Amino acid sequence: MDLCNKLYKSIYKEIFNYNIIYYIIMNKVELQDTIRKICAPGKGILAADESTGTLAKRFASIKLENTHANRIAYRDLLFTTPNLDKYISGVITYEETLFDKSSDNILLIQPLIDADIVVGIKVDMGVKPLYGTDDETVTQGLDDLDVRCKKYYKAGARFAKWRAVLKVDVEKHLPSDLAVHENAVTLARYASICQNNGLVPIVEPEILMDGTHTSIQARDATINVLSVVYRELLRHHVDMSCTLLKPNMVRPGVSSSEKLDCAKLAEHTIFAFQHTIPVNMPGVVFLSGGMSEVEATMALNEINKYDATKPWRLTFSYGRALQASVLDTWKGNLENKNAAQEMLFKRAEANGLASNGKYVNELIDNHSLHEKDYVY
Ligand code: 13P
Repeated sequence: MDLCNKLYKSIYKEIFNYNIIYYIIMNKVELQDTIRKICAPGKGILAADESTGTLAKRFASIKLENTHANRIAYRDLLFTTPNLDKYISGVITYEETLFDKSSDNILLIQPLIDADIVVGIKVDMGVKPLYGTDDETVTQGLDDLDVRCKKYYKAGARFAKWRAVLKVDVEKHLPSDLAVHENAVTLARYASICQNNGLVPIVEPEILMDGTHTSIQARDATINVLSVVYRELLRHHVDMSCTLLKPNMVRPGVSSSEKLDCAKLAEHTIFAFQHTIPVNMPGVVFLSGGMSEVEATMALNEINKYDATKPWRLTFSYGRALQASVLDTWKGNLENKNAAQEMLFKRAEANGLASNGKYVNELIDNHSLHEKDYVY
């Protein structure tokens, strides 16, 4: 099948040496198939794409050294979790992991491919200062992105992620128009490069939950950011039907006097989406943004229970909210591997149910996972 696909692709490239026709005929079919798999009912994405630096912080919390061997052991634990495919349809990897092998000399991603879990890759290279602004940032990594996409596709990746970071400070008028514009243009350039190289782009304009803003202010900021992002995606000829959106949920800032209320969060989030997201954009895969594991699950559940026009699949692409308890259980100790995998399965199950609005509240630890100015 793969060989046939390759043959057709090269024939079509010869006959139609024209990008748009080539994209429509060949790429689109495969991109749609990737999206269909990722958006399967009751499933979501495990974001396991922490950079080496971020994983160092995670490991430090369990007093584990950030060696290559430990990173392999941890990712291998995640990817070989029994029955992971029941609730997980895609996994975002970091470049190192895509090419890593386990101690049995098997690619770390092989168990995912065998279970028909779609492999994704973080393709951005972190944020840089946007000089002239009040500590705002823009994401880097566009140079040679096409070359990297081809390499990642060959290695088995079928979708990509690019995280743009924006912050709300009402008094300072943040996010500034400049930061919103620069990040939207960069996301659009990234999305168009990915689509033309066989990868479904996950467009991630994250508005941080740091700050004192209210949920209404967060809602307005989200509407502003998403509307500019979608304008730029259109301007860059991105095929909206072959993208996914990874946004923040709309909630008050962590230092706000307003308390988090998941029912309100659902209402504001859907309001913001109804005003900005095209109906042919197939799926929203939320980030957890530093909410506790249970908060992130409850919020997703409320969003799915909320009765309104919602023409998109609404599911999860969580990092911290799927892995915090897993790390705490594992502690870098082989003896704890099974228990840690059971923990991952449990969190995936809870979020899978929430993605259908069917989650029943658990009585477990609910501590915040928020870190100021979080980098991934
Ligand atoms: P969190 O769920 O920890 O916010 O991470 C998701 C992610 O992929 C951020 O880019």
